[in-house]
Amino acid sequence: MKYMTAEPFRIKMVEPIKKTTKEQRQQWLKEAQYNVFKIRAENVYIDCITDSGTSAMSQNQWSAMFQGDESYAGCSSFYRLQESVQDVFGMPFVQPTHQGRAADYIMAKIYCRPGTYAIGNMHFDTFRGNAEILGATPVDYAIDEGQDPTSDYHPFKGNIDLEKMEQLIKTKGPENICVVIITVTCNNNGGQPVSMQNIREVSELAGKHGIPVVIDAARLAENAYFIQQREPGYENKSIKEITREMFSYCETATMSSKKDGLVNIGGLFVTRNEDVYLQANQLAIVHEGFITYGGMSGRDMDALAVGLQEACDPQYLEYRIGQAKYLGDLLKARGVPIIEPTGGHGVYVDGRRFFPHIPQHEFPSQRLVCALYEEAGVRAVELGACAFGSKDKETGEPIWPKLETMRIALSRRVYTNSHLEVIANALGDIYENRDQYRGMKLVYEGPILALRHFTAGFELL
Ligand code: F0G
Repeated sequence: MKYMTAEPFRIKMVEPIKKTTKEQRQQWLKEAQYNVFKIRAENVYIDCITDSGTSAMSQNQWSAMFQGDESYAGCSSFYRLQESVQDVFGMPFVQPTHQGRAADYIMAKIYCRPGTYAIGNMHFDTFRGNAEILGATPVDYAIDEGQDPTSDYHPFKGNIDLEKMEQLIKTKGPENICVVIITVTCNNNGGQPVSMQNIREVSELAGKHGIPVVIDAARLAENAYFIQQREPGYENKSIKEITREMFSYCETATMSSKKDGLVNIGGLFVTRNEDVYLQANQLAIVHEGFITYGGMSGRDMDALAVGLQEACDPQYLEYRIGQAKYLGDLLKARGVPIIEPTGGHGVYVDGRRFFPHIPQHEFPSQRLVCALYEEAGVRAVELGACAFGSKDKETGEPIWPKLETMRIALSRRVYTNSHLEVIANALGDIYENRDQYRGMKLVYEGPILALRHFTAGFELL
């Protein structure tokens, strides 16, 4: 197996990470009730729990931070950020927020009304939570291939199913669909991209019925790279030409800058609608901070202004997407079942196929997360029965999700390909011994079901 796209950077500052023993890790797992969110980061060797806020910043970002203007109103850092965002998004109005979920909140407050539906490919938890609090019902309409971890290759598994969308508009009436949200890439089903054609068609269908379209743009550059690589007609377009076209089909975009912003904190609410912008300003002032900082420090806005540009660099993206594919290929070579093709920000292992003898109510993907930590000190995250499971509102009967995966999220510019080899070897070994593993029992779930994965406690069966 040849890996041609090595890291397009060299390392000038290092952060030590610690190797620990299996016995220590077994003890820490037990103390954490088999929930890796409760393990101290210093006891993790390779941390793949998220790709959010964990990027390594470049020398240009660090030097930009020294120019941070910390004025309360009208700071020059904001204007530098605004210019960079306008360049990448092609939209005029920019409201910073402290992170993505704050932008989600503002967006939900503006668009969601009680009794209405919010259509999406797969809504991210924080928007879903906000929508539900506001009395709207989020519905996930990713195409069937995107909801089945065993489905064959499809270049754009993040696409929205237009037929399902049209059907809901018809049965509920367009006035009862408050918003359509396209998440690029689709985090919940493997970091799978959405095609330009799908974004355009979703936007046309929504537009015909007067329904606003929002793009959740956390991983906008990764999505644009997939369009450039996979969609006919885009092979000669630049990443920024593609991002601008993507956003030309929506009214508003929200972004967790902690992903493709290549920074450790920050969010954005971007719109072309001045009235929406003015509403967002008011909400930001109450909840985030004044319009020109919205919960961010001047220096963090400067780092983001530079990071957004770096994320659109084709050499960086080739390396970035290549790294996820490299890990995917190593895992496949060991027979480990993953969602294919590999997505943008990590590799998603299919928990059902990995542990076919562990039923979903015994949390196969969570068992795998614990096995991987125990074996190699690698921390991944469950996106399956625990994170996405729900309960029938009337009977209380559990409802199990279609997707049952373990996500190995790859931080940007942080781990080398040797780290990925450690992960692949450990998982390969666990897979060979898969028959020896039993399931788990959920013993604590906390008061809010939708958030139980953060605080849940388990016992080994
Ligand atoms: N939208 C998407 C698609 C996300 O993946 C996230 C965060 C958010 C919004 C919220 O942004 O964290 O800045 O408030 N995803 C992280 C993850 C937490 O691990 O996937 P935030």
